[in-house]
Amino acid sequence: MCRCTSALVFPSSREVSPSVNGHAKKQPVNIFLQSSKEELRPEDPAAAQTLEAASSGAQKLVLLVATTGAPLSDAVSKLPPLQQPPYAPWQLPVIGHALLTRGKNEHFVHNLAHNIWGDGGLARNGGTVRVSLPTDLDFETGAPEGPEGWDDKAALVETIMTCDPDVIAELIAREAEFPKCWNRGPQNVVARMAGNGLFTSGTRDPDWQTAHGILPRAFNALKIRSYYPAILDKCRVYMHAWDKRAAGGEALIGGIHEWMSAFTADAIVKCIIGLDMHNIERLQTGEEAHLFMRTYRRANRVNMRPDLKAELGAAKYYNPLVDKKAEHMRLVAEARRNTEEVIFDLVERTRRGEMGEGGMIHMMLHDKSATNGEYIRYRNFYPQLINVMVAGHETTSATLSWTLYFLAKNPTCMEKALAEIRDVLGDAAEPTVDHIAKLHYVEACFREALRIQPVAVATARDAAADTVLQGKWLVRRGQRVAVNLVALHRREDQWGGPFGDPLEYNPDRFMPGAYEKAGLPPRHPQAYAPWGFGVRACIGQLFALWEAKTFLAMLLPRFHFRTPVGYVAVASQRELSISPLPYQLSLHVRRREGAPATSLPSDEAQPPAAARTAQGGQKQANGATTAPAAAPAAAGHSTPLQVLFGSNSGMCEDFAQQLAAKVRGAGFTVTVGSLDLAIAGGGGSGGLPTTGAVAVLTSTYNGMPPDNAVAFSKWLGAAAPGSQAGVRYAVFGVGNSQWAATFQAFPKRVDGLLTAAGAAALLPLSSVDVDQAGVTDAFDEWSDSLVAAALSAFGVASPTGAAAAAAAAPRPRVDIRPFDESNGGEIAFELTGPGDLDVLTKMRGHIPTNGNTNSFLHPLKVLESRQLLPADSGRATAHVELELPEGMTYSAGDHLEVVPVNCPSLVEAALQLLGLRGDEPFLWTAGSKDGAARGIGSGLKPPPALGDLMPGLKIKVHARGALQWFVDLSTVPSRKLVAQLAEACPCPPEAAALRRLASEEGYSAGVSGPKLTLVELLSRFRSVPTSLPELVNALPRLAPRYYSISSSPRADPRRCSITVGLVAFTTPTGRPHRGASSGLIHSQPVGRHLLGTVRCLQSTFKLPKDPTTPIIMIGPGTGLAPMCGFMQERAALLQGGAQLGPALLFFGCRSAGEDYIYRDTLEGHLAAGVISGLHVAFSRDGPSKVYVQVGCEASAQNWMGSLLEAGRYLEDVWAG
Ligand SMILES: Cc1cc2nc3c(=O)[nH]c(=O)nc-3n(C[C@H](O)[C@H](O)[C@H](O)COP(=O)(O)OP(=O)(O)OC[C@H]3O[C@@H](n4cnc5c(N)ncnc54)[C@H](O)[C@@H]3O)c2cc1C
Ligand code: HEM
Ligand SMILES: Cc1cc2nc3c(=O)[nH]c(=O)nc-3n(C[C@H](O)[C@H](O)[C@H](O)COP(=O)(O)O)c2cc1C
Repeated sequence: MCRCTSALVFPSSREVSPSVNGHAKKQPVNIFLQSSKEELRPEDPAAAQTLEAASSGAQKLVLLVATTGAPLSDAVSKLPPLQQPPYAPWQLPVIGHALLTRGKNEHFVHNLAHNIWGDGGLARNGGTVRVSLPTDLDFETGAPEGPEGWDDKAALVETIMTCDPDVIAELIAREAEFPKCWNRGPQNVVARMAGNGLFTSGTRDPDWQTAHGILPRAFNALKIRSYYPAILDKCRVYMHAWDKRAAGGEALIGGIHEWMSAFTADAIVKCIIGLDMHNIERLQTGEEAHLFMRTYRRANRVNMRPDLKAELGAAKYYNPLVDKKAEHMRLVAEARRNTEEVIFDLVERTRRGEMGEGGMIHMMLHDKSATNGEYIRYRNFYPQLINVMVAGHETTSATLSWTLYFLAKNPTCMEKALAEIRDVLGDAAEPTVDHIAKLHYVEACFREALRIQPVAVATARDAAADTVLQGKWLVRRGQRVAVNLVALHRREDQWGGPFGDPLEYNPDRFMPGAYEKAGLPPRHPQAYAPWGFGVRACIGQLFALWEAKTFLAMLLPRFHFRTPVGYVAVASQRELSISPLPYQLSLHVRRREGAPATSLPSDEAQPPAAARTAQGGQKQANGATTAPAAAPAAAGHSTPLQVLFGSNSGMCEDFAQQLAAKVRGAGFTVTVGSLDLAIAGGGGSGGLPTTGAVAVLTSTYNGMPPDNAVAFSKWLGAAAPGSQAGVRYAVFGVGNSQWAATFQAFPKRVDGLLTAAGAAALLPLSSVDVDQAGVTDAFDEWSDSLVAAALSAFGVASPTGAAAAAAAAPRPRVDIRPFDESNGGEIAFELTGPGDLDVLTKMRGHIPTNGNTNSFLHPLKVLESRQLLPADSGRATAHVELELPEGMTYSAGDHLEVVPVNCPSLVEAALQLLGLRGDEPFLWTAGSKDGAARGIGSGLKPPPALGDLMPGLKIKVHARGALQWFVDLSTVPSRKLVAQLAEACPCPPEAAALRRLASEEGYSAGVSGPKLTLVELLSRFRSVPTSLPELVNALPRLAPRYYSISSSPRADPRRCSITVGLVAFTTPTGRPHRGASSGLIHSQPVGRHLLGTVRCLQSTFKLPKDPTTPIIMIGPGTGLAPMCGFMQERAALLQGGAQLGPALLFFGCRSAGEDYIYRDTLEGHLAAGVISGLHVAFSRDGPSKVYVQVGCEASAQNWMGSLLEAGRYLEDVWAG
């Protein structure tokens, strides 16, 4: 009947007739659950009878069945008659005191507090009672059943319940006689997931004893100080996120629990494990939480609150033959296994020295316990880590939620806290370690919230032997003494009086010396126990306080917040939290006037145990990047320099990283981040810094900002003249002159608006055209000039020496090295030879994702692929239909982003140059910044990058695969690179020839003119030593390609089509080139996959919302593709009975017989009324060439004229 695994098995309840007070009534026997096997072992077989005999005078017979226990101690047997604490009221047959768990509160411990000790309760102001409750109380609801209702409901357990501080004092003093046990029904349920970590184990468990001698070291005062930069950094990220939310004025921010939880989880995990989960950024951008968080949450949910119907499916769920308990256990085991995998991966990476130096995992690996000289068992690492994850973030986040709630409800307290922060911080925008120690009132605000709403609602100890408590009460061996912390913290005698009613929020109670000043006797030392007590007290108390104070000291000066009108908090666990917190708390948040600016997360913010990938810095989900780890800071003048980028496909972001290394080498203190992140500090006094300088590197899309510069563009557009006075900046624009009308439009706009807002340019706007050669050289020149201009503007000098050189040295982006068999066990998966396009399917096993499907690249299955041009046309255009994964959405006019692979001829040439066959294995360590294979490792679609999700993931990749995916092999090397090769060349004649090619003339005649690739160049200079890692790191990443979607989701939301012209030509050097992407698409047969996702590029290229608006569509060649999508949309609308306005289509091609693609479809549309006019211009059909624009001019002018006359205005919508 007992469902717990570690407890002993009890026979069924017996009925006896107690007789002490003459009320001979039939009651079920209450059973004390015996402890787990490690803790209280069965002993003398005679004991049960002895106990029965000894207890004969008691109202209830306490039967220790299946345990035997020692004979009664002298103290007990000498007690005539045996006293036990009085029963709590509302006791009923069969269900015991179950009614006490019911009431107006959601949490049963709150109800117990109210019903037993609250107004009208039996024992107001203290008192210790006996309560008889079912064995398997649900942790949250107090319901006598487990999560799925199959648990044993019969047994009642008699527990001593108290809120008496004297009892706590005695439990502390007699720790050995009252150990903490972890063995009851609900505890065993928790242990299924959390194992026996520090929190979730008995004091006699050897694992607890070992860990207790190690883990507290990770949380001592010195350690906390060392964590401070990381905590502050997380606060900064948080402030930026809320700045964004409140950018447009007061914002209602929902899900405060989620926010707090993201913050505290990020902080604790970063500090003690060295893993940066970026959950705050993920929350801000609406992405799913980090893998660690997700697996942990899932394990918790499946264990405690499974939705079995959803998990198993209705058919299985309602099938009486399916053993639901077994199914549940299977799910729990699976979820735990997944979490274990994540954790053991972190452990292994720490073991290899890749992360977490000095952190908790490091300690577990290397330190022996102070208590027993043992190491923590390897299998016990998981429970210990998951315990700290649970205990270390949910508690603090719940308390912070309560603190914000109470402050919002008590504006005077908020003002007082704010005044203290301003007073202590003075002019400083952010608190320092020293400030934190001085924030007494802020601390009191947190402590007071924890008093009224303790997030650990109860704690308990079990008697190790029959004994007497408080000198009068018999406590049986194994009997539990539970302390109700809610009731303890609301005792009138301890908390009432001059500080107001105990339920009133008044942080003054916790100000140093407050009681003395009020002429009151000191409080009972155990009247406040939110952190537990004795040897089992919280080890993270100091961490929680520092974290909370830093957070509040950052938040309060920046934001004012209030609850929605009428909101009153209910302590609840319905939001799937471990602790009861204010249910559905949301806040109206407004940025305070004159709020201090928030710095970007900084280099120094890396915790001691920072998880930095070997090659790259850590990329944050919102595009901010802390400086790469490999770059040591160059000692120098430390003038701040913010490097900001706007970038969709990563070129400007790459340049930004390169610039960061260069300016760091020149002694500047550098932060790197997206343009949007830079102004997340808000308009007002936020925005760009006036100390140091700002470098902006940005591209543009259809004249508009890249995705991560949209908010910046808006903010700058609204900046008042003179508002950016004092800012010193330089802009580097990256554009493509093919977009003639909007070439460099956004960089120009940024430069112009900054000047207009009063900022001073360090350099004139510098622009490069990616359609021309020499982009990298232009960037190098500009970055050199920027360094020189900044040094001179600030009157500082570049440091010299090894540190400066090392800081400035370019770092390899991609961590790839020959595969060493000893690494074999560590690899996550293998990317095999050519055409292994199933890479993301493989990765999915490591990065489960759901929701936000468009944010990730997915394998898209080819459902149909047909050629649209006749075989003898000499060209090829394919209509390709792809299956979209569940959750990926698009609308007509959107683009499909496709990950290309290098043209096979380039890959073969590279293999030949390197002397490789192609199947040689390499070990690639994925890093978020490695830029290798934007499509594979680093990129997916930023954010998030794979490196963020699984930094350090080891992948075995074959040489051919790396050359196919990682870098753009068709790149023409920059002049600078040619010069570097000349220097590295050991053969004097070859070096001289390379030097000639590096001259201006030589370069244009011999390299950029004939579009010589790096591989081609190196093939001519064989003495230059080169290897695959070097080659991969010398070239830029392989950029994704875009294709206009030529279908509408109205036809079928699960599939989309693209129309792809094959690029194939012979280069001036005689190399046959097949388009990296178009070649791949054309060669993928039905059933295979392409990697891609839907992209809505910054563009207004959409059908008008009103279908009656007349439209003109012009699309020559594959430019017809988006029009096909629009027409399919209109066809569906028409079929649905919508009224359509007139639509003209102008299409241009060579000849009717050669490349009039989709002819039947277009004519069908015309016949059906989807379009009202179809004009096709053939450039090679007649005696003279007719292009599409000619047709437009002739046919459209009259038509448009009449429309304009009829009062229409014209809106141009251009596609890229
Ligand atoms: C917004 C957008 C929408 C697009 N929509 C479509 C679409 O619907 N359908 C479509 O087919 N394409 C479309 N494209 C183009 C597409 O993204 C790719 O650029 C195209 O498929 C070529 O990529 P690739 O990897 O196959 O070629 P690559 O391997 O990158 O080769 C192309 C490069 O080779 C050079 N080149 C081309 N021909 C020659 C030659 N004869 N001699 C020397 N050099 C040459 C070009 O300068 C170009 O840089 C779109 C592009 C954008 C930006
Ligand atoms: C407001 C924040 C916190 C509160 C209210 C809190 C509360 C508690 C309580 C009540 C206990 C004792 C439980 C018991 O007696 O059964 C405890 C133990 C523990 N707490 Fe905390 N905690 C907080 C923050 C943290 C943090 C930040 C950490 C991070 C390391 C942490 C780690 C632990 C651990 C490991 C234990 C078990 C100690 C042991 O039994 O040896 N806690 N906490
Ligand atoms: C859809 C699209 C639209 C573009 N529009 C413009 C434009 O209007 N003006 C321009 O100068 N460059 C334009 N470009 C070129 C990009 O700015 C250029 O490719 C740049 O290198 C991208 O840099 P990024 O990778 O940092 O985003 C466009 C590119 C694409 C793909």
